[in-house]
Amino acid sequence: MGERIVSVAVDGPAGSGKSTISKLAAKILGFEYIDTGAMYRALTLKVLNKGLNPQKPEEVVSLLKDTDIDFVDNHIYLDGEMVDETIRQNIISQNVSYIAAIKEVREAMVRIQQNLAKAKSIIMDGRDIITVVLPDADFKIFVTASVEERSRRRYKELLEKGETNITLEQIMKDIERRDYIDSNREIAPLVRTEGSYLLDTTNNTIDESVNFIVSLVKRGL
Ligand code: CDP
Repeated sequence: MGERIVSVAVDGPAGSGKSTISKLAAKILGFEYIDTGAMYRALTLKVLNKGLNPQKPEEVVSLLKDTDIDFVDNHIYLDGEMVDETIRQNIISQNVSYIAAIKEVREAMVRIQQNLAKAKSIIMDGRDIITVVLPDADFKIFVTASVEERSRRRYKELLEKGETNITLEQIMKDIERRDYIDSNREIAPLVRTEGSYLLDTTNNTIDESVNFIVSLVKRGL
């Protein structure tokens, strides 16, 4: 008999800490971490590199059939090239929500994500993992934090990466705009559904949030 395949679905807005804590929890539990935001970011990178307009769905959709996005050993590959770092640039963050609002893009990504979850035990994070991708996940967690705290975290991250021509106010505006697009788009908007655990990380240390997920899963297995 094979080992049971377990799925943990995590949704939440930008800067909520979901990626950081999901990655660490996955390591402790021995699960694979799947960062679905990275997939939308990778496609955004390709769109920008090709000089296409992220706000023109037909231009973006035309790229889909010749695009290969995959995870190998927790690294993301776009058409065979590792793009872990390049997809984190602020220019990608500013454009990704347009790409992620396109129906055909979401259908293609969701298909890949569902297949990944069938293959092994995973923690998958994003905006629509509980609502659309894995509604039958074994564990469902909605991670959030105040807009101010989320903006401070993102600002610190960008400064550490050497992006200096940016202010906290700009970041807060970007985050609020992205929250708005993600929560109000027609397809698969970011919403918290009943039946998911709420994890507010505003006043938590990273360890406290990681522990929340690890204990929840260990208790439930
Ligand atoms: O880390 P951060 O929250 O800034 O963003 P991310 O998780 O890398 O996701 C970037 C963007 O991709 C989000 O703002 C969403 O527009 C989109 N996204 C989505 O629509 N659905 C997902 N499952 C994951 C990300």
